[in-house]
Amino acid sequence: MKVLVLNGVNLGRLGKRQPEVYGATTHEQLAQRLVLLGAELGLDVEVRQTDSEAELVGWLHEAADAKTPVVLNPAAWTHYSIALADAVVQVPRVLEVHISNVHAREDFRRHSVITPCAEGVIAGLGLGGYELALRHLATSS
Ligand code: DQA
Repeated sequence: MKVLVLNGVNLGRLGKRQPEVYGATTHEQLAQRLVLLGAELGLDVEVRQTDSEAELVGWLHEAADAKTPVVLNPAAWTHYSIALADAVVQVPRVLEVHISNVHAREDFRRHSVITPCAEGVIAGLGLGGYELALRHLATSS
């Protein structure tokens, strides 16, 4: 089964960006890790990152048309992008992942416009959250 892992704005800077919050692993390293884990789980994982909201919406449309499950970290768009929520709702299976514990940070990070459209949310478990999301997709339908 194909799975898309889609990372939003600023997540291409993992490893450089606030390492005390997001860790020292780069996006490239994360992607390699997830592709390897996917292979172990029998999933064909593709990892993408963009700083363009329009591009992310396009990828969600692609997932909706192909019925491809998505692991999504919408990053800052989580908190306000109705356009993204409108795209997410069209995709049959979306797991929302946040590296940091968004509930233990600034108040504005506690609200997600994506969560009502997601199958589930993992937050605060670091990059392990992506791995748990893949394991969930591999073991449930
Ligand atoms: C994030 C949390 C968001 O609030 C933030 O804007 C991000 C990353 C996370 O993975 O913890 O860019 O989604």
